[in-house]
Amino acid sequence: MTTPPSPTAFNTDLPDYTKLPKLLVGQKALVTGANSGIGQAAAIGLARAGADVVVNYVTGDAAAQKVVEAIEAEGVRGLAIEADVSKELEVEDMFAKAIDAFGTLDILVANAGLQRDSSLVGMTMSQWNTVINVNLTGQFLCARAAAKEFMRRGVRKEVSVAAGKIICMSSVHEVIPWAGHVNYASSKGGIFMMMKSLAQELAPHRIRVNSIGPGAIRTPINTNAWETPEAYASLMELVPYRRIGEPEDIANVAVFLASDLADYINGVTIFVDGGMTCYPGFATGG
Ligand code: BGC
Repeated sequence: MTTPPSPTAFNTDLPDYTKLPKLLVGQKALVTGANSGIGQAAAIGLARAGADVVVNYVTGDAAAQKVVEAIEAEGVRGLAIEADVSKELEVEDMFAKAIDAFGTLDILVANAGLQRDSSLVGMTMSQWNTVINVNLTGQFLCARAAAKEFMRRGVRKEVSVAAGKIICMSSVHEVIPWAGHVNYASSKGGIFMMMKSLAQELAPHRIRVNSIGPGAIRTPINTNAWETPEAYASLMELVPYRRIGEPEDIANVAVFLASDLADYINGVTIFVDGGMTCYPGFATGG
């Protein structure tokens, strides 16, 4: 057994992620896939900014409870709810429970996602369907349920000038093709058009819909891309800023997008990728 790298191994000069302003006091948020990785950091970030947060998970009850504890340590309410985001009835039930517990919802971070990698010719229907169902259909089901509540309730002036905020977790792979991951890249490309169409449809209701496009972030989904010095060095060839992203880098942007400081931002993807979408190969070629 090799010793696992420390949480900041190979990264230096990180920002102080605890300096989040209290931009979301009194708001109620639901984050899917919040028991690990980016979802976990987003849930804790929203809590640090003052929101009560529902921690959705599908497996990993104990991890979800730990995130709830971290949320409550910020002086706000946390609640873990198990639901598979790809199942319509489970999503409906989760939103009913969340609204029952918190009274309403103001923010959805549709984050739950996974990879089932394979070459095209080796890809099974199950690998294709699992990724599309969780990553794309799951976000559709959650966005639909959130929008219903935002439209029913309208603006709560005391907490926000918008009636609701939907943040879709996309990826650099909504624009960067990814051989060997056609299911994943297609799901993220789908999220791009879903997000834009929802932004257009929901804007008159004062509901904002945007995406975050993370690059390589240090989470369990891509351990093999960063856990050894060799893998890290080869990953850095794709990252002009020369450090891996931390989950908190994404959480900061989720807090900003959910806040009224971002009130005129609607229908866009903010890439948080250290420049991965800048075609780094062209820095010296072309
Ligand atoms: C994927 C990671 C990958 C990153 C950059 C993310 O969307 O989930 O596995 O490292 O994109 O390629």
